[in-house]
Amino acid sequence: MADLASTAHEGERLQKVLARVGVGSRRTCEALIANGQVTVDGEIAVLGRRVDPDTALIEVDGAPIGVRPGLVYYLLNKPAGVVTTTADPQGRPTVVELVPAEPRVFPVGRLDADTEGLLLLTNDGELTYRLTHPSYGVEKEYVAEVQGAPKRAALRRLREGIELEDGITAPARATLVDDSVVRLTIHEGRNHQVRRMCEAIGHPVMRLVRTRIGPIFDRSLMPGVWRPLAVDEIRALEVAVASNQGAAPEG
Ligand code: URA
Repeated sequence: MADLASTAHEGERLQKVLARVGVGSRRTCEALIANGQVTVDGEIAVLGRRVDPDTALIEVDGAPIGVRPGLVYYLLNKPAGVVTTTADPQGRPTVVELVPAEPRVFPVGRLDADTEGLLLLTNDGELTYRLTHPSYGVEKEYVAEVQGAPKRAALRRLREGIELEDGITAPARATLVDDSVVRLTIHEGRNHQVRRMCEAIGHPVMRLVRTRIGPIFDRSLMPGVWRPLAVDEIRALEVAVASNQGAAPEG
């Protein structure tokens, strides 16, 4: 009895959780609950219900929102010198050694050993597929310190597309942050793409940092440190891959 009483007062109001992850306005979410369209861990929820959004399986009309149990999502600030793989034959440190060993997670896409910055690791294969498949075109933002000072014409080439050995790059966003620092946003994921693009305009990369993956960024995460994604960040990633499916490259 005591347990029941305490759980009823814990957690967040269900309509608040639903509204935060984008199901609808608070009022719409209340109506969905009142209509019996929302279940928590398989049971129809009543208005006033509180949940722990990190553990509850919340469904609207049978479709899960937020995180499914058992799936984990980490955001790591990868330091230079760490390889984006699960095991390295050369014995270099790997990204999976920087996050919890259980449950087993895999990096989403790849950063070069010398590249720093944000990397997602998860055991959610579906989301990994969507985030890495070119047809979903999720944006990645990089800040590159380059040799020399790129001029406007060089930045325009980055924006309009550059002929690389594996084809022309899709239109990108490129702005100068400082004389030798370029912020580049691309939505392809070819090998060494940013380094090759900068090399092609005559400004080889000296240092490369990924600063954003779709809606995910975190300026306060220190190199070598990871944190779990918040439920609304996971939801935002899902929205990003859903809305970008088959999207034509910008331009
Ligand atoms: N582009 C690169 O050249 N390297 C990376 O690690 C990521 C993007």
